[in-house]
Amino acid sequence: MSARRKLHIGMSLAPTWLSGDAWRRPDSNIEGLFSSDFYLDIARRSEAAHLDFVFCPDTLFLRTEVLEKGPGFSSLDPTMLLASIARETSRVGLLTTISTTFLPPYVVARQLQSLHWLSNGRAGWNIVTALAGHENFGLSAMPSAEERYERAAEFTEVVRLLWQSYPEEALMMDRANGRFADAALVRPIDHSGSHLKVKGPLNLPTYARAPIPLIQAGASPEGRNFAASVADAVFASTPDREAAIDLRRDLRRRAEGHGRSPDAINLMPGLSLYLAESRAEAFELFAETHTRADKARAFATIREMTGLDLSDWPLECKVTTAELPPPPEHPRSRTHADLLRRLIERDSPTVEELLWRPEVIGSAHWQVIGTIDDAFEAIRDWVEAGAIDGFIAVPGGSVSSLRLVFEALVPRLAEAGLFRTSYSGTTFADHLGE
Ligand SMILES: Cc1cc2nc3c(=O)[nH]c(=O)nc-3n(C[C@H](O)[C@H](O)[C@H](O)COP(=O)(O)O)c2cc1C
Repeated sequence: MSARRKLHIGMSLAPTWLSGDAWRRPDSNIEGLFSSDFYLDIARRSEAAHLDFVFCPDTLFLRTEVLEKGPGFSSLDPTMLLASIARETSRVGLLTTISTTFLPPYVVARQLQSLHWLSNGRAGWNIVTALAGHENFGLSAMPSAEERYERAAEFTEVVRLLWQSYPEEALMMDRANGRFADAALVRPIDHSGSHLKVKGPLNLPTYARAPIPLIQAGASPEGRNFAASVADAVFASTPDREAAIDLRRDLRRRAEGHGRSPDAINLMPGLSLYLAESRAEAFELFAETHTRADKARAFATIREMTGLDLSDWPLECKVTTAELPPPPEHPRSRTHADLLRRLIERDSPTVEELLWRPEVIGSAHWQVIGTIDDAFEAIRDWVEAGAIDGFIAVPGGSVSSLRLVFEALVPRLAEAGLFRTSYSGTTFADHLGE
């Protein structure tokens, strides 16, 4: 990262700070989970801190097996939620997640372009190929990752063509001559490919003042290649610095291979932050959050991702490469399966250590458990090592962890010249382009 470029920072609107047992704290405001005010407060704080964007991940299925203990994947539709936030904010980017596996591209192109108009150029699309949920869309099985990425590439191309099919300059609104639009400039896309058939044009003009940034999540070779061809940023799981350095280098190289500038693609890992005044308090927060963590589920996760059943192993026993069976052919996410395998190959952790690792209990995100100083130093270290272009904050453990990000960590990064002190543009693309 060049000395003059600032970090890009996004804030999760998925209430990660209420995960584990944290939602049971008196100040969690869990009752507000399905109200827009709950999220609006965070979006306003994000804007006051000049963050690049707020971010909603999404799935299209409910994890009933975890619902007794916490919200699981219960959530509002992210694009509708962000539309309600659009009216109440004016600068912060609004990053929604929409899968390319289940929905028709015409609907997706229209939803995103609508959010872009409603927010005056602040919509962004986190493109995912999804982890599960095929039963909700009439599919008998989840398509393979390869097939999902093939469809994702075609889907994204169709969405972009639809966005161009009704250019804003076609709008005339010429009262005197009674011409609303120059219809000759509005063209069908006549797309017919291996996965999709769409005629177009879209029934909504393009908001031409700024493009809609594309963000991608999924780091298998196909995922990286897809991201390198179109994405402005990658939302990544990189539990350690070397994983981030390798991924960033690889994405930049692949972007060049697609004829793009390596600086066109920003690596933004999730950063799980358990923050408190002292390290001891932060570790307590982390432990409290995970005390009721379901061991059976952690063992099931390890089995699904590595093929290894550790449920009757003594906790102090080391897990080494020699124990690893060949990787399962179709894990839900190859990114997460590869990261867990990598951890075992590199560190030979004990079973007990594995059960607390972000690769098993979290989403394999980079994790800081400590003080503001600890978080600041970790971020500075990763920046100086060329590991990141920014991060997406996923605060953990409590509402106070979330507050400390806004009230102490981001101001500290700004003071050190690592982050902006004011917005210079008004659109999401402006912020990412700085
Ligand atoms: C950091 C990260 C975040 C993801 N977020 C979502 C999400 O919000 N919704 C979803 O359906 N899938 C999500 N995915 C799944 C990916 O879109 C993808 O389907 C999956 O990782 C398989 O791709 P891979 O083989 O490249 O890992 C995420 C994956 C990663 C690595």
